Amino acid sequence: MNETEKKEVALLRSKIHLHDHQYYVKDSPEISDREYDSLYNRLKELEGKYPECVTADSPTQRVGGKVDERFQKVVHPVPMLSLDNTFNVDEVRAFHQRIVKGLPDVEESSIEYVVELKFDGLAVSLTYEDGKLVRGATRGDGVQGEDVTANLKTIRSIPLEIPAEPFRKIEVRGEVYMPRKEFERVNALREEAGEVPFVNPRNAAAGALRVLDPAITDSRKLSVFIYSVGFLDNNICETHSELQEKLASLRFPVNEHNRQCSNIEETLAIVEEWRTKKNDLDYEVDGLVIQLNSLSYRKKLGYTSKFPRWAVAYKYEAEQAETEVLEIVCQVGRTGSITPVANLKPVFVSGSTVSRATLHNEDEIKKKDIRVGDRVVIEKAGEIIPKVVRVVNLKGKRNQPFQMPTLCPECQTKIFRSEGESAWRCVNAACPAQLKERLKHFASRKAMDIDHMGPAVIDQLVASGRVKNFSDLYTLKQEEVASLERLAEKSAQNLIDAIEKSKSAGLARLIFGLGVRHVGQRAASTLAKTFRSIKALKETSFEDMETVMEIGPVIAESLKSFLDQDVNLKDIEILASSGVVMEEQEIIGNEGSALTGKQFVLTGTLSEFSRDDAKEKIESLGGRVTSAVSAKTDYIVAGKDAGSKLAKAKKLEIAVLDEKEFQKLIEAD
Ligand code: IVH
Repeated sequence: MNETEKKEVALLRSKIHLHDHQYYVKDSPEISDREYDSLYNRLKELEGKYPECVTADSPTQRVGGKVDERFQKVVHPVPMLSLDNTFNVDEVRAFHQRIVKGLPDVEESSIEYVVELKFDGLAVSLTYEDGKLVRGATRGDGVQGEDVTANLKTIRSIPLEIPAEPFRKIEVRGEVYMPRKEFERVNALREEAGEVPFVNPRNAAAGALRVLDPAITDSRKLSVFIYSVGFLDNNICETHSELQEKLASLRFPVNEHNRQCSNIEETLAIVEEWRTKKNDLDYEVDGLVIQLNSLSYRKKLGYTSKFPRWAVAYKYEAEQAETEVLEIVCQVGRTGSITPVANLKPVFVSGSTVSRATLHNEDEIKKKDIRVGDRVVIEKAGEIIPKVVRVVNLKGKRNQPFQMPTLCPECQTKIFRSEGESAWRCVNAACPAQLKERLKHFASRKAMDIDHMGPAVIDQLVASGRVKNFSDLYTLKQEEVASLERLAEKSAQNLIDAIEKSKSAGLARLIFGLGVRHVGQRAASTLAKTFRSIKALKETSFEDMETVMEIGPVIAESLKSFLDQDVNLKDIEILASSGVVMEEQEIIGNEGSALTGKQFVLTGTLSEFSRDDAKEKIESLGGRVTSAVSAKTDYIVAGKDAGSKLAKAKKLEIAVLDEKEFQKLIEAD
């Protein structure tokens, strides 16, 4: 390839990138499709002639990258949090008041907000280094997501390259969504092919992004809006709106409807404005995001344990409808809790037909006085299970009040309600209903992700007595499964293969899948990352477990008592001997960092950092911060007036860093 051709390739690429931007982001193409095609084909021709010149960020390479068998895990440089919700004007005003109170040195009149649409898709993170897209990941549990770079590259509004200045490294965040029209097109095709249609555009987008073949993502026309940044190596902006302008100038697709407001009243006016206008957009929004504009005020306010204090989501009211209660039945959950559910006369609301609604518990039914035969108002918000809001015919002629059963509807054991608890429980450990629910949870997408193990299959496996615990799944034979009613040989093999595949689901999914009370996905992921194996979890004392950030006494107690029971230990032992992975696998993301996987304890006062800053920094480099010193601590960072933790660290011979040494360590990265 000679110099002239080299230059031509570079020029073609930058032209195509520019025209992609004009077409997919700006919606205002500057050249005809034919002209575009001729640029594209010329580039293809040159790349075909000189394959060595093909680069990953060439516009011809949007489709065709590779995705691993299982997606690689990626630790987000800065955790991806979610937002607290508000549902009415009063809650938004209360949010504003909290901000005013939290910023005592700031004039109320100088508090500005930015209001944005809250896109109903899935959050992604895109990392650019020296102007090149190097990684795209899903949000995952907020701390750790999945590497879906090859799939994200097929989305034309995502730039593969951006100017390398002013940020050499920038991680932007946004929402991938499926436009309504595309959703209709995809669903029509699915129905034609006899497949189950997607419930909503968000599920369709998620499905299209989490596939192993980028060509499939490419065939479902996804799009993205970029709304903020996670990691940034050059903080040159003072406000969010400035930052967004910068992002737009770097060719990121920033939504055109974002509005700056100089006070809370303007903000509330925008909330009203979008209440109906949102239905005219060609993508779904489930509310608005209201956030402080000033980045320094944001810093002052910081975060609660879950959410930023400087932003909230505004959710528009759920749609309501009136219908009739046909029957009240009780369902047994995986921990034995008994939930009353109303079977309803089917009614259409928020885009789908509703025929069931949860009644939560006995007290809730009493409070609302819901009886069989009543006319009720039901409500559905997004994906949330519909609920009964109130009874319409309280004064009319009605049936007798509802009575909770005294026996478990499934195994007929006497049920109990402990003091302080709202739920009645079946305490029979062998109750088949609980077992079914536990298996459903174990196999679910967020746990061991076992495809082809639907409720009908689980019912039969349990009813036949063949599966009594998790480990029994791993000794199932193809013939046994094939002998289940209505299961073709091929489906039986698919199930066996899926069970086999689940063995390497990983420690976090396994811990979550075990279904220990109070141990949610996030806690499971923290436990996996901190303790790294089931064996270590078993050996950890309650005290050590409890002190891990985000775990606390309730989770620790529940997990300890689970791991103290012989039945559970035996099940885990057999799972291990069947080849189920019991250890944390290595993660990518911060390979080069000296801090990756290291556990830190911060103590005393640091002069250059606040605790939160130091923690953020450590986590951004792949380390973890815990509050108590234990044998697992790798470093203790001791500021001024460090006390007992420092003494304990010395006793355990843990490396102690003073502030200078700590700074050196992080700067080395
Ligand atoms: S800002 C600290 N802006 O809503 C989080 N989020 O609950 C700041 N979302 O997971 C998020 N549109 O996926 C922001 N314009 C927007 C958004 C948006 C949709 C999603 C996002 C996040 C969730 C927040």
